[in-house]
Amino acid sequence: MDFLRDPDIDPAPMAGKRVAILGYGNQGRAQALNLKDSGIDVVVGLRGGSGSTYEAETAGLRTALVEEAVASADVVMMLAPDETHAALYREIEPRLREGAALGFSHGLSVRFGFVEPRADLDVFLVAPKGPGTALRSLYQQGKGMIAVWAVEQDATGNARGIALAYGRAIGCGRAGLIASSFAEEAEADLFNEQGVVWGAVPELLIAGFETLVAGGVSPELAYLECVGELHLIAELIEARGIAGMREAISNTAELGALLGGKRIVDEGVRQRMAQIFAEVRAGRFAEELSKEKASGYERLQKARAAARSALLEQTYRSLQDREEA
Ligand SMILES: NC(=O)c1ccc[n+]([C@@H]2O[C@H](COP(=O)([O-])OP(=O)(O)OC[C@H]3O[C@@H](n4cnc5c(N)ncnc54)[C@H](OP(=O)(O)O)[C@@H]3O)[C@@H](O)[C@H]2O)c1
Repeated sequence: MDFLRDPDIDPAPMAGKRVAILGYGNQGRAQALNLKDSGIDVVVGLRGGSGSTYEAETAGLRTALVEEAVASADVVMMLAPDETHAALYREIEPRLREGAALGFSHGLSVRFGFVEPRADLDVFLVAPKGPGTALRSLYQQGKGMIAVWAVEQDATGNARGIALAYGRAIGCGRAGLIASSFAEEAEADLFNEQGVVWGAVPELLIAGFETLVAGGVSPELAYLECVGELHLIAELIEARGIAGMREAISNTAELGALLGGKRIVDEGVRQRMAQIFAEVRAGRFAEELSKEKASGYERLQKARAAARSALLEQTYRSLQDREEA
């Protein structure tokens, strides 16, 4: 695997370049501030009347309307939500300088055709593997977050150098930059969101909580067992790997995990995972994302309301209140 760190990366391709960061959300804020602190000339491109203008300027960043920021930039980072990229790219394409670099932090919109970049542009990916809040706090601690990088289009011959130097400037070279492609990054990320960490794991926690409560266990204890311990296993895996985590827990917990884990995650689960991966590759999720935006995020809003009013959430809040009291 191609794994590069700061000493392997030439920062020169970003020297003297102006970067327009489009969007000041989770990633936009973190990347803009990290670039500024790395001495890069940054402008944050925002929509007219954006509520983020005040926040960005208070943080010491220059802001401009999207079209002005794009017209002045050598590197343009698409850090608005993925489902807005198609319309946003149509809006900015006439403003992009000849031979500019167009960057993404997720391969989705290029892999699934939301954006078809002009042939004269360099097109690169630097996708930090975690939320912007952590990207920023790690940078401030002198550390970094691992990122995946790729080049989709190398119109000028400089795309590789710009991608790596950009990753270095946002601090990811301190941890490591892993070479990939837009397709591989997008497909693996979308699969994980649905089938593993963000989709399956919370549902497993909810199912465990509901099973205990249905069996007469108090919601508070069910919560502490099935949800509250998650951070402990996450920290152990981070520090020691999965084998090391198993060795670190009691023999009782280790035997329980051995006997129970594979009864839950059986062959049927693996088959459904393979099905999800095939659907992601066929572009079904990208279609769903476009539909969701067109409907005004109907399903997401309903799901958020249902999750907020569930017993599990009430139990979480009551435990929080007691801890803070
Ligand atoms: N969230 C993460 O930690 C994370 C991690 C890795 C990669 N990524 C990738 O990073 C990219 C950005 O994701 P995010 O979660 O950071 O997004 P986000 O927080 O939802 O982005 C919100 C920002 O985008 C702006 N915005 C929304 N619609 C816009 C439009 N039509 N035109 C211009 N600006 C618009 C918003 O403007 P206003 O201020 O005006 O509301 C706001 O500043 C995505 O490609 C995502 O897949 C995200």
